[in-house]
Amino acid sequence: MGSLSGRRIVLGVTGSIAAYKAAHTVRELVKEGADVRVVMTPGAREFITPLTLGTLSKHPVHSELTEDRDAGTWTDHVELGLWGDVVLVAPATAHTLAGMVEGRGDSLLLTVLLSAKCPVVVAPAMDRDMFTHPATTENLAKLEQRGVHIIEPDSGELASGLSGKGRMAEPERIREELTSWFKERAPLMGFHALITSGPTHEPIDAVRYIGNRSTGRQGAAIALELAQRGMTVDFVSGPSTIPTDHPGIRRINVQTALEMDAAAKEALKNTPPDVIIGAAAVADIRPSEHFEGKTPKSELPESLRFVANPDILAGLNRLAPKGCFKIGFALAHGDGKEAALRKREAKGCDMVVLNSITDKGAGFGHTTNRVDFVHGPERIDSFELKTKEAVAEDLADIVQQTLSPRESTPASHSE
Ligand code: C5P
Repeated sequence: MGSLSGRRIVLGVTGSIAAYKAAHTVRELVKEGADVRVVMTPGAREFITPLTLGTLSKHPVHSELTEDRDAGTWTDHVELGLWGDVVLVAPATAHTLAGMVEGRGDSLLLTVLLSAKCPVVVAPAMDRDMFTHPATTENLAKLEQRGVHIIEPDSGELASGLSGKGRMAEPERIREELTSWFKERAPLMGFHALITSGPTHEPIDAVRYIGNRSTGRQGAAIALELAQRGMTVDFVSGPSTIPTDHPGIRRINVQTALEMDAAAKEALKNTPPDVIIGAAAVADIRPSEHFEGKTPKSELPESLRFVANPDILAGLNRLAPKGCFKIGFALAHGDGKEAALRKREAKGCDMVVLNSITDKGAGFGHTTNRVDFVHGPERIDSFELKTKEAVAEDLADIVQQTLSPRESTPASHSE
C-alpha cells in the first residue's frame, strides 16, 4: 500500500513552463495510491495537454467553468473543492498566487480554491526576479498566514537562462513533502470511526417521551476531534442541538434506541469502522406500546409497561471487523471502576471511558468532564477535570496510538 493511499488530491496546474513536470507529478502521486483529479488553468494548456494529464490521472481534466456551452452545463467547482483532502497547486504561478490572495474567481482553479474546505499546498514556479519581487514575497507570506503550505522552489538554472531560486520543486520532492505534511496534519486520515452519541427519546405518544439528560456534547467533541485528525466519521446522534459541522462527519439523526441501533448497524455494514465509540446515553427501556397522536390527559394510562432496548454497542462490537478498536462509556454513581471492568467484558469493548455523576463538573449537562480510561484490570488511566473538548483530545490520542502501528491496513480499506 502506497504512502498516499486513499488520499484525494485536486492537482491545480497553472501556466508556467514547469507545467510540463505535472505529468511526472501525477505519476508520482498515483504511484503512491493517491486519487488525483486535475484542474488546469487555460495558461497551463499552452504547455501540456489535458489528454496527457487525463490519461495519467485516469480522470477527465477540467479547465473551464462551462463544461459544455451548447448544453449549458458547468463544472461543479464546489463539488471538486469538497471532494479533495488537499488542493495542491503545482506549478503555482505568480498570477495564480496573486489571485488566491485577492480571492479572485476568474479561472476554474481559483473558484475551486475559493470553495475548498480542505487545506491547500502550493509549489511556486517562476523566474528568479519574479520570485524575489516584493509582491510575490508578500503574497506568499499572506497565504502562509492563512494556513497554505508552501513547497519552496529549488535554486538552479531557470527557463529564462537566469540562475537562482524559482524552479519548481521536483515531483519526487513534492510527493515526499506532501506525504509528511499529510502525516503531521491528518495522522488519522484513511481511518473510519462509527460513533453513537446523545440521548434517545422513547415515545409514550406523539408528544411525551422517556429520555435522559444527555446533551451529546462529549460525543460531538470526539467526532470533531477525530475528523480534524483526518478520520471520516459516521455519527449516529439521538436528539441533540450540539453541532458537528465538518466535511469528514456524516451525521445521522435518530430519536429512539431502535432507530439508533438500525442506523448504526447500517453504517457499520456500509463502511467497516476502525474504531467504534459508544458515547450515546441509550435509554435502557422503552414503553412496550406507544399511542398515535396526543393522548388526552384523562385517557393516559395509570401505569406504563416497559420492554428492554437492545444493547447497541454490544451488538456493534459483535459485528465489528477484526482489529477494530471498540470503546464504550460508563456513567457511574460513585467509584464505578469494578462496574466499568464488568461492562468492558460484557459488551466486548477494548476500553471503557468511565465518568461519575458524583464527580463535580462531570457527566450530563456540564461542559467539563472527569474520566478514567479503563483498559483492563492492569491499566486504568485517570485524568483531571477538563473540558469535554480536552477529554476528546485524550481519547483521540489513544485512538491514534492504537491505530498508527497498523497504519498501512485500515479496516475500512482492507477489502
Ligand atoms: O450498560 P450501560 O448503559 O451502563 O453501558 C454504557 C455503554 O453502553 C455506553 O457506551 C452506551 O453507549 C452503550 N449502550 C448501548 N446500548 C444500550 C445501553 C448502553 O449502546 N442499550
